[in-house]
Amino acid sequence: MTVRRRVSAADAAIPPTKQAPEAPNSAEPEILPSKWPRILSFSFIFLLPYFYLLFFHYRVDQELKRSILISAAFSAAGFVVTLKLIPVTSRYVLRRNLFGYDINKKGTSQGAIKIPESLGIAVGIVFLVLTILFQYFNFSADSNWLVEYNAALASICFMILLGFVDDVLDVPWRVKLVLPSFAALPLLMAYAGHTTIIIPKPLIPYVGLEVLDLGWVYKLYMGLLAVFCTNSINIHAGLNGLEVGQTVVIASAILIHNIKQIGASKDPEYQQAHAFSIYLVQPLLATSLALLSYNWYPSSVFVGDTYTYFAGMTMAVVGILGHFSETLLIFFLPQVLNFLLSLPQLAGIIPCPRHRLPRFDPQTGLLTGTNDGTLVNFFLRQFGRMTEESLCISLLVFQAISCCFCFLLRWVLTGWYK
Ligand code: UD1
Ligand code: MG
Repeated sequence: MTVRRRVSAADAAIPPTKQAPEAPNSAEPEILPSKWPRILSFSFIFLLPYFYLLFFHYRVDQELKRSILISAAFSAAGFVVTLKLIPVTSRYVLRRNLFGYDINKKGTSQGAIKIPESLGIAVGIVFLVLTILFQYFNFSADSNWLVEYNAALASICFMILLGFVDDVLDVPWRVKLVLPSFAALPLLMAYAGHTTIIIPKPLIPYVGLEVLDLGWVYKLYMGLLAVFCTNSINIHAGLNGLEVGQTVVIASAILIHNIKQIGASKDPEYQQAHAFSIYLVQPLLATSLALLSYNWYPSSVFVGDTYTYFAGMTMAVVGILGHFSETLLIFFLPQVLNFLLSLPQLAGIIPCPRHRLPRFDPQTGLLTGTNDGTLVNFFLRQFGRMTEESLCISLLVFQAISCCFCFLLRWVLTGWYK
């Protein structure tokens, strides 16, 4: 719940912009320092296999490798800028009363601290600047690439705007479910790629076709994928580090998948589709790692719906334009399970409270599962009471296992399926 203090009668006479000085005041409370050394060392678990595949395992075309490395250098710079920008933005959002209380610390002194909200806005802005500038360094002569790339950026930018609107205005949650379908419009309108699907080999005798053109149904599917990816990240949330942590795990899996596809293929168009995904996911991962450095337990900032929508939309966009949405959906397995568990409450069959979270015991510091249909509660009911940090780690490990399962499934099905 984002808490925005109402302006008192005395305050109301003063226009809001005049209430605060222009520059942040040095007397204002500082947020807790970032945990970036810990987060960076943790990220090596994913980054090492990625760079091993890029540099040693596959012979990636020099031109393509150069573009990927330029994007990686941009992303590294983005990590540092985001790390610096978050404490500054935190002071500004706090002054505009955009903060939340940490619900899973209610009853302790930490639960009474105002935590700055919507820090996804800082991440989103750095991401957009990086990806807009990067176009200058992509050496593909294909102008169609630029059209789709900019349509993708327009959709992501629109999603950041709507996410921030949601954080500021607290849109009713049934309305917020459909916001991503508006944000997906720039991409859907500009999309000039194919609208066909390849029928899995075992099904060809039944369907009678090898390739099926879905036409407008394919665009509808693209829109629904955007709605699913954004909302599923947003509702698998409420624990310190979970929103960003799941994005970091999925984004790393996407990068590994992309590089494997580039390495295994000789088709330049196919390689370009996966490189396209890398150019967007590398900056997403780097800026998210900077955010995670502040959002990891105990959180000194909250990410807001600005971030969950932005991250979900970026991953949906690369899945659509890279043509690997079926792989993406398996990476999203925990989110699919959480969505299925949530269905009775989302559909209104049983009551849905504002926050569907576990119960926190301030005496022991442990969380207990409630009957709300979420994966978080399901884990607590299955594995017993846990601290917030261990629960978040367990859920992220499950996310990583789902990604490994996806790689295994692809390996087993190659040749048989397509
Ligand atoms: C979604 C979930 C809601 C969950 C919320 C938490 C559904 C339908 N909605 O709502 O059940 O409670 O996310 O993110 O499943 N917060 C914490 N600790 C955290 C992160 C968030 O206490 O680690 C609290 C803070 O008070 C923060 C608020 O959640 O201000 C943010 O909630 P918001 O993102 O606005 O909730 P929704 O996305 O609408
Ligand atoms: Mg949210």
